[in-house]
Amino acid sequence: MLNIPFASLAVVLYLYASLARAAPNPAAFSASLNIVKESINPPRGWVQGPPAPEHHTIKLSIALPQPRFGELEAHLQEVSDPAHARYGQHLSKADVDALVTPHQDSLDSVDDWLAQHGLGDEDMVRSDGMDWVTIRVTIGTAEKMLDTKYHIWIHEESGDVVVRTLSYSLPESVHEHVELVQPTTMFARFKPEMASLHYFPSVPDALEPITDSIAAVLGQQVPSSTTAVSPTCNSIITLECLQDLYGTKGYTPQAADKNALGITGYLEQFANLQDLKQFYAQQLPQAVNTSFTFVPVAGGENSQNLSEAGIEANLDTQYGLGLSFPTPGTFWSTAGRPPFNATLTTPTDSNEPYNTWLDFVLNQTNLPQTISTSYGDEEQSVPLSYAIRACSSFAQLGARGVSVIFSSGDGGVGDGDTDPATTTCKTIDGQNKTTFLPFFPASCPYVTAVGGTVNVAPEVGVFFSGGGFSNYFGRPAYQDSAVGTYLANLGQTYAGLFNASGRAYPDVSAQSMNFSIVSGGRNGLVSGTSAAAPTFAAIVSLLNDVRLASNRSPLGFLNPFLYTQGVQGLTDILTGNNPGCGTEGFNSSQGWDPVTGLGTPKFEVLKSLV
Ligand SMILES: *[C@@H]1O[C@H](CO)[C@@H](O)[C@H](O)[C@H]1NC(C)=O
Ligand SMILES: *[C@@H]1O[C@H](CO)[C@@H](O)[C@H](O)[C@H]1NC(C)=O
Ligand SMILES: *[C@@H]1O[C@H](CO)[C@@H](O)[C@H](O)[C@H]1NC(C)=O
Ligand SMILES: *[C@@H]1O[C@H](CO)[C@@H](O)[C@H](O)[C@H]1NC(C)=O
Ligand SMILES: *[C@@H]1O[C@H](CO)[C@@H](O)[C@H](O)[C@H]1NC(C)=O
Ligand SMILES: *[C@@H]1O[C@H](CO)[C@@H](O)[C@H](O)[C@H]1NC(C)=O
Ligand SMILES: *[C@@H]1O[C@H](CO)[C@@H](O)[C@H](O)[C@H]1NC(C)=O
Ligand SMILES: *[C@@H]1O[C@H](CO)[C@@H](O)[C@H](O)[C@H]1NC(C)=O
Repeated sequence: MLNIPFASLAVVLYLYASLARAAPNPAAFSASLNIVKESINPPRGWVQGPPAPEHHTIKLSIALPQPRFGELEAHLQEVSDPAHARYGQHLSKADVDALVTPHQDSLDSVDDWLAQHGLGDEDMVRSDGMDWVTIRVTIGTAEKMLDTKYHIWIHEESGDVVVRTLSYSLPESVHEHVELVQPTTMFARFKPEMASLHYFPSVPDALEPITDSIAAVLGQQVPSSTTAVSPTCNSIITLECLQDLYGTKGYTPQAADKNALGITGYLEQFANLQDLKQFYAQQLPQAVNTSFTFVPVAGGENSQNLSEAGIEANLDTQYGLGLSFPTPGTFWSTAGRPPFNATLTTPTDSNEPYNTWLDFVLNQTNLPQTISTSYGDEEQSVPLSYAIRACSSFAQLGARGVSVIFSSGDGGVGDGDTDPATTTCKTIDGQNKTTFLPFFPASCPYVTAVGGTVNVAPEVGVFFSGGGFSNYFGRPAYQDSAVGTYLANLGQTYAGLFNASGRAYPDVSAQSMNFSIVSGGRNGLVSGTSAAAPTFAAIVSLLNDVRLASNRSPLGFLNPFLYTQGVQGLTDILTGNNPGCGTEGFNSSQGWDPVTGLGTPKFEVLKSLV
């Protein structure tokens, strides 16, 4: 823990006698002994504004420890290991809830603490596992509870505004019974991973207009019965390119009544139905009258206003659902986007939608077997405590038989910048040390992280493909051999810039450049590992279809399979590199590498392996 980039985070647990507080009775006195729970340095790119208005309300999520998490992890390993007798015997929601339930001591201590601030059962919303308690309080109350001062923070680049603090404390009596309280120190923004910054700098909405010559190419593409990949796929990706390249053409899903693909959307993105219809009319006419299930989370938006359609949401639905058609799709739109209007005193959301989504899905009894997310942020902007809890939630989904798939990021080994003089890859521990910047949630060992490729004969690792090594999570056993081999070949190159003992990513990769989509009624091209994640997820969904059709369990947590038998069903990508942080980045090479992982899918082979 001492080496994590947040030098002061959760490390210096020092007691401080709180600013001369009255101590009328012993109970109140003990409650006034606050211990710093978490303290961070000012995050990069944010400036502190005025104090947050005292009467503004904030929804606080309090995480209680999960003392049986080790057991849950052991179950997850067994049910995800194809060589184990329990492979595929996933846990139910009730099983998982029982395995994350806190000690009674923790529940009692937290209840007492909340009661001291006038909060009773009726003010709390609990997760079914009891491991999360959510309360809605004023900033003033939150500041008293956490012995902190909230400020308005402004993100310089985007103008986004959030209410946060750099440190908070908890009374000694609950310190060990609470793992984290958020929003406090969580500044990560989890952006959609579209490589717009790298590729289309002058187009604000990241959509490259289709020119006449491109339209002509699209016009020529008639679905063919051959599976030879068209050379046009080198410059523009369509559904047919991916079907041919990854070998799904001709596979007819059999288990659409049981299977589903879930896609997450944040930042008020919704997928536009008219855009989907237009896309299908162009590329998958048999799907033209079909749609997906929209599920708002905490009031997520779905205005269907064509001029507000989300490019990320449209990309994810058009390719994820198009490739897995007719597998039903679910699109979750989770509310909670800055800006927070500092002048308002009415309740607003917490601007922290990611936990909101996790709470929501973990509370569902039936979940899609495959879930794709194309949002993330640099790991160091996510407080360690938060990253660990979110990662534990992904493990819970895995234990329940869900394949959780994330894009690996669009900055190569960090910021995509090859110039050592201008790179922004610095630690935020106060030392400003140049370092590669791992990406979260791709760095969580319980998700499958998908990097990007380009070109079709052969596929090449794309320059922006996020890849590297976590500073928060150690290397999981399933990737010891593959990653160990890579590191042995790498030798001392980049020593000191990355953490060789960390969880390595991506796990796999897929096409990510110039996907032809429809957004806002217009055709356009969009690039990013954002495109790779739903592509890979759709293929996983088809593999789940194969298993469900013969009454077997879904694949669940994929990595133990991918790093063993699964590797035979992947095309190893041998060239390409992912520059950033003033370097040329890592190279794609034989075997696993931190650009393209184990490679891209070969559906026919995977189908025979699952
Ligand atoms: C979980 O779902 C149940 C049933 O739909 C609902 O009553 C409850 O409020 C939900 N819990 C949370 C924490 O959202
Ligand atoms: C992607 O599309 C852009 C715009 O049409 C084009 O300039 C570029 O060459 C394409 N990328 C590749 C890899 O072909
Ligand atoms: C879609 O619906 C329209 C209008 O009902 C119908 O004419 C058309 O045949 C349908 N297309 C498909 C592929 O089902
Ligand atoms: C659709 O969105 C645009 C842009 O935000 C807005 O100007 C327009 O008023 C909206 N239309 C409707 C019908 O709400
Ligand atoms: C905040 O709210 C005030 C009052 O409703 C309004 O005048 C102002 O424009 C809002 N600011 C932003 C950034 O939305
Ligand atoms: C690190 O960078 C920040 C912002 O550029 C600067 O204020 C600070 O002085 C630097 N610290 C060191 C140790 O160089
Ligand atoms: C490197 O990763 C290990 C394993 O997760 C971790 O314990 C250690 O703190 C990390 N080191 C740095 C410098 O971040
Ligand atoms: C990548 O390959 C190039 C060309 O072979 C080589 O010069 C470079 O050192 C390699 N970089 C790494 C990090 O392996």
